Amino acid sequence: MGAILVGCPACGAGAGTGGAGSPGAEGLFVRLGGMDGVRALVDDLTSRLAADERIHHFFVKTDFRRFKGRLVVQLCALTGGPCRYGGSMAGVHRRLRIKAQHFDAFLEDVAASLTVVRLSARDRVELLKLLRAMKPEVVK
Ligand code: HEM
Repeated sequence: MGAILVGCPACGAGAGTGGAGSPGAEGLFVRLGGMDGVRALVDDLTSRLAADERIHHFFVKTDFRRFKGRLVVQLCALTGGPCRYGGSMAGVHRRLRIKAQHFDAFLEDVAASLTVVRLSARDRVELLKLLRAMKPEVVK
């Protein structure tokens, strides 16, 4: 098994072949294209969020460099890759007062971004399901 990384500055293109998480979820990380795939997804998603009039006001003060780095680590961990996200979703989002319609817009942007990675329709649904499960922590 590979080392569990807290943050992924050292994650190379080949990382993720021996990560944490359940075997099924680990497969999702690999099928996403490992760290390169996660980074491509996050790059595309960040552009969409910044341009999305329904929600871009939430991000006016956001340091996107940091945001992207954290999101890469989180999605790597969520899909079974060799990262560990040490943050608190509820803690980060609480003060933002995000409503259900904002959450839905965010997920629509994720769904649109999933076209940049080579994932099967089934895997896309699986990833969206993992994210949708975070709704209670994000929406207040
Ligand atoms: C499943 C859905 C979501 C995931 C996985 C997610 C993930 C993240 C992550 C990993 C961070 C960085 C936190 C850190 O610093 O450790 C973050 C920050 C942030 N998220 Fe989300 N998020 C989600 C939904 C949303 C939604 C729906 C909005 C608003 C519409 C939003 C707005 C923000 C903002 C503005 C920040 C930056 C906060 C700051 O500047 O300190 N997020 N999110």
